[in-house]
Amino acid sequence: MPALELTLSADQVADFRANGFLAVDRIASPDEVARLRELYDEALAEAATGFTLTYRGEREDGTEGIITQVFGPEFKHPELLETEYITNARRWAAAMFDVAVDEVEVAGMMYIYKPAGEGRDTPWHQDEAYWAERSHLRCNSLSVWMPLDDVTVESGCMHYLPESHTGDVLPHVKLAGPEPLHLDPPVDVSAAVPCPIPAGGATLHHCRTVHYGGTNVSDVPRRAMTTIFHAPAPDRDTPIPKPWLDGGAVWADAQ
Ligand code: NI
Repeated sequence: MPALELTLSADQVADFRANGFLAVDRIASPDEVARLRELYDEALAEAATGFTLTYRGEREDGTEGIITQVFGPEFKHPELLETEYITNARRWAAAMFDVAVDEVEVAGMMYIYKPAGEGRDTPWHQDEAYWAERSHLRCNSLSVWMPLDDVTVESGCMHYLPESHTGDVLPHVKLAGPEPLHLDPPVDVSAAVPCPIPAGGATLHHCRTVHYGGTNVSDVPRRAMTTIFHAPAPDRDTPIPKPWLDGGAVWADAQ
């Protein structure tokens, strides 16, 4: 059983509901983070044979940056679903959406790796924009992103636009090839908040919160993992169009 059971305060829940995101300094114990680093490094070493994708892109300074993603590591290591990280995150998702824990679906895990000095940015987007199969729903979903290394602005922490979750899914576009979605037209992100956190902390965001993941120009790797949690969601009157998904396979969110 997970050793570390953490509960959010009423103020943290209210903060999340108002702003659409929350940063916490701890979701998993140092022992668990150490074990997860082993699984993570093993998966990255095997990345060429797994459900893996690498995004390449030019950075502001003209150099090329990359993101490597590993999809569904929990299929190889089911113990990942029994972690403090998942247990706490699922309970927190239930609190955020005011539902019972067993109503929250754990919808898939991803490793998102930005190597030291070589990580590219993840452009501004909303997670719900990726979900073709949920276009008939007004989603109530939470992403819980946990770094396994201390994460700073320089190493690619998350940035969130407060209150952006209160609107709807905004227009996105997808460039050809393995490219993440991005908001187009762009939105004013001058009020966005960077969220540096320690290893074993977490940032949580609503599926319509506009967010961005920075480049890694630091000298430490940015090993992070994220998991989506779906709470029950109402049907929309009509499905929301997502024409940016029409071109075929769009890979999952890269944050
Ligand atoms: Ni995202």
